[in-house]
Amino acid sequence: MTTKLESAQTAELLADFEKKINAEIKIEPSDWMPDAYRQHLIRQISQHAHSEVIGMQPEANWITRAPSLRSKKILLAKIQDEGGHGLYLYSAAETLGVSREQYIAWLHQGKAKYASVFNYPTLNWADIGAIGWLVDGAAIVNQVSLQRTSYGPYSRAMVRICKEESFHQRQGYEIMWRMMQGTNDQQRMAQDAIDRWWWPALMMFGPHDSDSPRTSHAMLWKIKRESNDVLREKFINKTVPQSELIGLKVPDPNLKKISDETYTHGDINWEEFRQVINGNGPCNQERLEHHIRAHREGAWVREAALQSDFRNQ
Ligand code: 3HC
Repeated sequence: MTTKLESAQTAELLADFEKKINAEIKIEPSDWMPDAYRQHLIRQISQHAHSEVIGMQPEANWITRAPSLRSKKILLAKIQDEGGHGLYLYSAAETLGVSREQYIAWLHQGKAKYASVFNYPTLNWADIGAIGWLVDGAAIVNQVSLQRTSYGPYSRAMVRICKEESFHQRQGYEIMWRMMQGTNDQQRMAQDAIDRWWWPALMMFGPHDSDSPRTSHAMLWKIKRESNDVLREKFINKTVPQSELIGLKVPDPNLKKISDETYTHGDINWEEFRQVINGNGPCNQERLEHHIRAHREGAWVREAALQSDFRNQ
């Protein structure tokens, strides 16, 4: 049972914590934090880390079939960056007192999510362009705002990640632009890719604010700095003009320009979103099985790396 003294001490710690949050002072791993704040970060940062790593799979599918040596080298570097982002984020998540092994076990047990968008297949090279342009583009909009998140290690990881993500977005847009300069078939492939990736990219921002159970606390504690809908609208407003510039059409019959720089959009298929985040998307099983297999097959590398002789060399 909590004594009066303990309650008074907790109230004081909470007041101090909130004072720091309000003053935009980062919360660091050794600082006191409310358990709900820690739990929110554990969930969000680990989901984010898993997204980076699982996101390598749909792109890796195209390394061996990239149309030129230049595009193969760029794609390889991008996928390697994503692995690095996972590493920064798992390291940030570990400062909250949970081991990386535990995070990965939760992923394998289906207790942790990763971004819904990576449960869709990459059918051809245009999909690599659409992922870079739309998926990394959506990720950046969210991550730029997360650079100001209140938890120090997460915020610092975001600063590094954002620098690299902007190259990824351009890599994807360049592929789409080149295809739109190409043959009729290449143009059709590019349009087909935006038709299939547009809506999953919008779903990356999560449910509407009114249906997002996590948003209010996250905003109060400045873990999230902007809401799901605000970020989604920013992404749409940036991306629609980019698509028009290269001759692509956003597959939303209800998309309307309401001012020079803002658009309203049609309804998102939230039933599809729910199905995908609950494990029933087109590739959920394949993505998880691949991760479990790669983790098992890589056990010897982790064991070797942990040998003290090796580390001291
Ligand atoms: N995919 C999977 N799950 C999602 C989701 C999505 N697109 N959007 C929401 N969810 C989940 C939430 O995690 C939450 O699940 P839980 O209750 O089991 O934890 C539930 O749906 C309800 O959603 P909320 O809006 O209430 O949840 P949040 O307030 O956490 O907001 C979020 C969701 C916007 C995704 C937020 O967690 C966030 O900003 N996360 C960090 C960013 C991130 O994870 N980005 C991954 C993008 S991919 C990437 O960066 C790789 C790059 O290389 C492309």
